[in-house]
Amino acid sequence: MKFTFAATLLALSVLGIATGGCQCKVVQFIFGDSLSDVGNNDYLSKGLAKANLPWYGIDFGNGMPNGRFCNGRTVADIIGDKMGLPRPPAFLDPSLTEDMIMQNGVNYASGGGGILNETGTYFIQRFSLYKQIELFQGTKELIREKIGDNETEKFFQQSLYVVALGSNDFINNYLMPVYSDSYTYNDDSFVTYLTETLRAQLTLLHSLGVRQLMAFGLGPMGCIPLQRVLSTSGGCQDRTNKLALSFNQATSKMLEDVSSKLPNASFRFGDAYDVVNDLISNPVKHGFNNSDSPCCSWGKIRPALTCIPLSKLCKDRSKYVFWDEYHPTESANELIANELIRKMGLSPTNLSPSAAPFAAPSPQG
Ligand SMILES: *[C@@H]1O[C@H](CO)[C@@H](O)[C@H](O)[C@H]1NC(C)=O
Ligand SMILES: *[C@@H]1O[C@H](CO)[C@@H](O)[C@H](O)[C@H]1NC(C)=O
Ligand SMILES: *[C@@H]1O[C@H](CO)[C@@H](O)[C@H](O)[C@H]1NC(C)=O
Ligand SMILES: *[C@@H]1O[C@H](CO)[C@@H](O)[C@H](O)[C@H]1NC(C)=O
Repeated sequence: MKFTFAATLLALSVLGIATGGCQCKVVQFIFGDSLSDVGNNDYLSKGLAKANLPWYGIDFGNGMPNGRFCNGRTVADIIGDKMGLPRPPAFLDPSLTEDMIMQNGVNYASGGGGILNETGTYFIQRFSLYKQIELFQGTKELIREKIGDNETEKFFQQSLYVVALGSNDFINNYLMPVYSDSYTYNDDSFVTYLTETLRAQLTLLHSLGVRQLMAFGLGPMGCIPLQRVLSTSGGCQDRTNKLALSFNQATSKMLEDVSSKLPNASFRFGDAYDVVNDLISNPVKHGFNNSDSPCCSWGKIRPALTCIPLSKLCKDRSKYVFWDEYHPTESANELIANELIRKMGLSPTNLSPSAAPFAAPSPQG
């Protein structure tokens, strides 16, 4: 049976009332990379991938850097906001407590992290997906000490999970000759290796009580400004885009399979590849004005993370697809979030307080 998230939430609330079960809130746990990081890397003292300088965060809250690799909200922020869910704080946030976890969930995402342990070693410190799952296990034990076995199982089974990684496994691993994966595998065998590793990770998460999960696919990552500078024409890297498509196809199939085999699992896949590809080819059609260069950039010198205090900002951030060399702007993230909501059949409008009394009001901003 196919439940929408809204329907699942409703079913859970009815079930909760019927069985007198867990009185806890539905919250989110987020696993990801820099596209979802909300500050973890800021606390990794030796890590090189950080969004802790202006102009990161310029359109978020007080406009100071907050650890997001974006001018504003991430895709996961926007989806959560639209579903009326609280924003999970960064795992490494020193103020994180058991109560905060039960009220808001946790975000383990870390810039530079990948599905594979060996991805992103260049950044020295980051949480790969296995490490993030290990941290999640620790979180679960912490909650268990607080509320006991039965309530803990219910709390984690009724929570929502997001898994959004993969681009670093290509950009900061397979496509870089310094990494051994680049010569150990070919395009097909690498995608299989990635997808099978992700299958094992999702199965592990299921054994830890994860039941409702959304996995995000990859966008046309051959079109990020950092990839465009690799070609003399400044065009998109075709091979990189083909790898993203092939990953999306394999992951979509894998998720369907995992979801049908694991008991009570609703594991769903969504990608916004086509919409973003169309946005890049026809920015004006979507109300954008630039789809090939970063809004925040440091002239013609374009090393990896170039949005720094000396950088120049574009005039209108809402009209640029890319914020820096890697990451979309908040406006592009909105488009991506809307597409994912549509594709995965999330029904934010059904999640009004009256339909889902336990849902928190949307956070401000
Ligand atoms: C990946 O790293 C985790 C620790 O974060 C470790 O437990 C696991 O064995 C590693 N897996 C591989 C295949 O190296
Ligand atoms: C936990 O659930 C089990 C099985 O449903 C039950 O036997 C046990 O009494 C419960 N424990 C607590 C502390 O409620
Ligand atoms: C699946 O859901 C049913 C009904 O809520 C529950 O009784 C059962 O224990 C669940 N099984 C697993 C493995 O979660
Ligand atoms: C963006 O706007 C500028 C100034 O109005 C214009 O010159 C340029 O062609 C536009 N670019 C796109 C991709 O529409």
